Amino acid sequence: MSKSREEINKTEQDYWNNKKLDRKKIKPLRRHAFHFSYNRERKLLNEVIQVTEGKEVLELGSYVWSDWIKNKVVPKKLTCINISETELQTGIDHAKGVSFETEFHLMDANNLTFPDESFDVVIGGAILHHLDIEKTLSHVHRVLKPNGIIIFLEPLNMNPLYKIYRKLNPQERTPDEHALVSSDFKIIKKKFTFDHYFMDFFSVIFGFISLKIYGDKNYGNWLNKFGFNLDVLCSKIPFMHVFFARVVLFGKKK
Ligand SMILES: C[S@@+](CC[C@H](N)C(=O)[O-])C[C@H]1O[C@@H](n2cnc3c(N)ncnc32)[C@H](O)[C@@H]1O
Repeated sequence: MSKSREEINKTEQDYWNNKKLDRKKIKPLRRHAFHFSYNRERKLLNEVIQVTEGKEVLELGSYVWSDWIKNKVVPKKLTCINISETELQTGIDHAKGVSFETEFHLMDANNLTFPDESFDVVIGGAILHHLDIEKTLSHVHRVLKPNGIIIFLEPLNMNPLYKIYRKLNPQERTPDEHALVSSDFKIIKKKFTFDHYFMDFFSVIFGFISLKIYGDKNYGNWLNKFGFNLDVLCSKIPFMHVFFARVVLFGKKK
C-alpha cells in the first residue's frame, strides 16, 4: 500500500531533524565529477537569479538562497518554508545581518498557505523531488503573480546507472524521495513554460575513473575537464537529456 502524504512528511521531518542521511561515500566522487560543473552551475544561477532583484521571493526550502541570492542580489523580501525545524533554523542562521526583509515558516510545501499571487519568484534547490510535484506546483502556480518566475535545481533519475546506484545506496536518500523523471517534466509543462539546463553525465563517468586514479585529490585534472566538456556539448542534444544527473529549470507561469 502506498504511503499517505502525512506519513511521508513525518518521515521527511524525522530524517532532516535528526540528520539521518549518510553521504560520506558519495562526497569524494562529487568532488571529482562536479568540479567543473559546479562553476557552470554557479555562472548560470548568477545570471538567472538577477530576476529576484527588488522582488517578493519564496524559497521552497530554507537556505539555498544563501548560495544563490546572498551578496549577489537584493530581493524586496525573502520568504522561506521548510517542514523540518532543524533545516528551517539553518536558514534563519544564514539570514542574520542580511540587508533585506526575511520571513521563515514551518510549512508543508505540498500545501502552501500563502494567499494567491503573493510572490514574483519561487526558487528551490533539490526540493521538488521530496514533494508531490503535481500538488506543489499547483500551489506554486497559485501563489505566483501573473508572469511569475520559477527557478529550480533538481536531481534526475532517468539514467539506468543512477537508478542502480540509488538502489544500492539507500542511506544517501530519504525513503520516499524520487529524483525527477520524464513524467515530472510533463507535469511541470502543464503550468509553466521553461528552459532547462542539463548537467553531469560524462563528468560522472570520468569523475569515477579520475577518483580511482588520483584518490580524493587533484579534482581539476584533464579527465574531469574532458568529461565536463563532453557534457556541455551533449546537453545540447535532446535525446541525451535522459542520461544527465541534474537539471536547472528556469520558467514562467502560464
Ligand atoms: C535535499 S534537502 C534540500 C535543502 C534545500 N536546498 C534548502 O535550502 O532547504 C531537502 C529539503 O526538503 C525539505 N522538505 C521535505 N519535505 C518537505 C515538505 N513537504 N515541505 C517543505 N519542505 C520539505 C527537507 O526538510 C529538506 O530541507
